[in-house]
Amino acid sequence: MAKKLFIRTYGCQMNVYDSARMADVLAPLGYQPSDSPDDADMVIVNTCHIREHASEKVFSELGRLRDIKQERAGQGQETVLAVAGCVAQAEGEEIIRRAPFVDIVLGPQTYHRLPEMVARASRAGGAVLDTDFPAEPKFDHLPAPQAQGLTAFLSVQEGCDKFCTFCVVPYTRGAEYSRTPEAILDEARALVSQGVREITLLGQNVNGYHGGGLRLGGLMRRLTEIEGVERLRYTTSHPRDMDDELIAAHRDLPQVMPFLHLPVQSGSDRILAAMNRQHTADDYRRIIDRLRAARADIALSSDFIVGFPGESEQDFEDTLKLVEEIGFAQAYSFKYSPRPGTPASGMAGQLSEEVKEERLARLQAALQVQSARFNESCVGRTFDVVLDRPGRRDGQLIGRSPYMQSVFVTAPATMMNSVQRLTITAAHSNSLGAVLAEEKACA
Ligand code: 5AD
Ligand code: SF4
Repeated sequence: MAKKLFIRTYGCQMNVYDSARMADVLAPLGYQPSDSPDDADMVIVNTCHIREHASEKVFSELGRLRDIKQERAGQGQETVLAVAGCVAQAEGEEIIRRAPFVDIVLGPQTYHRLPEMVARASRAGGAVLDTDFPAEPKFDHLPAPQAQGLTAFLSVQEGCDKFCTFCVVPYTRGAEYSRTPEAILDEARALVSQGVREITLLGQNVNGYHGGGLRLGGLMRRLTEIEGVERLRYTTSHPRDMDDELIAAHRDLPQVMPFLHLPVQSGSDRILAAMNRQHTADDYRRIIDRLRAARADIALSSDFIVGFPGESEQDFEDTLKLVEEIGFAQAYSFKYSPRPGTPASGMAGQLSEEVKEERLARLQAALQVQSARFNESCVGRTFDVVLDRPGRRDGQLIGRSPYMQSVFVTAPATMMNSVQRLTITAAHSNSLGAVLAEEKACA
């Protein structure tokens, strides 16, 4: 009989991809996805270490899952409980010590071994811990991906060697590793043959990609030669790796969507140096100029950290100045939060919560004005939108504009998983409202 698998995913798109691949790996064992942990035979919590208070949040979630597991055990049903992702990688031993009812703890590099871990866990009667960085890359051991709908993620590189001083990724995801172009092209072909039209290339440092003599721009060029690859996106990039070829891809390849998430973190050179970002604020400005010269309508997104150790009011104002100059279509901003084991956590000049709160509020207000302005500039325009999610209200579907905005439209359910021309009629703070373009023409 089919067993039910529930996966709770936190954090970045890389985790979303990993969760889908874990489901692929477990499918041959009879596990079918389920949308609730209550009746699941296996529950995986795919964790993110970037979240504030990441490990406490994981432990409180595990507490709730323990109750479900106990209740099911009372009815004679077994629940395999696994913790995956970056918190598992960083704090595996601690999880087993503090949450002994957990059966499996696995890092992001070992999920291809999940079937073996499940077998060992049911034999062992003790937790299985697998947070190696194995020599055999997991990608060589994964089944072909099961696509759902028109959009898919495709992981092209993992890990990071940049060592920004605030970041845990180099420790949890390990050293930079790029898949071969052949493996990536094969996976893209498999996705397209299942109906996928839009592929988002993933990597912690995706534009650091270097496989088989190709950099990311060259890889995208090869991907666009596959018939059916209609749209390409990629995330997350580092300014240092925005090379000419990648910028040219935005100019030359119509499949590359006019959107880029390029974290800058700060507008102060002093703070950028302390963060070990290896670029200045002006370097970032020049990259944006080159991108806009290549593709005038490119919409930009970024990540910011406020209140990094030693950040003065002047440093923060330099960040606000950079924001004003660039104009972001959307952005994520965070208060600096010390992560154990990272260099910045031990730096002098840690700032108070009040200062961080106040700066975050000012930055977010500035970013909000920009995203509202950008959304408003879209009203009246017509876009091809991939409708891939049901809306909250009946009869509503949601998709993504070329510029990554969520677009809501009233449309028949049969249009789910199709590309539709939509005319934007309303701008909200985080989304757009639209009508089917033909409807507008008839009205
Ligand atoms: N504190 C605050 N924000 C952080 N980020 C990463 N580490 C930290 C930290 N210690 C943010 C960065 C990164 C995004 C994914 O999370 O802005 O780009
Ligand atoms: Fe972390 Fe990104 Fe810096 Fe790598 S480049 S250390 S993933 S913030």
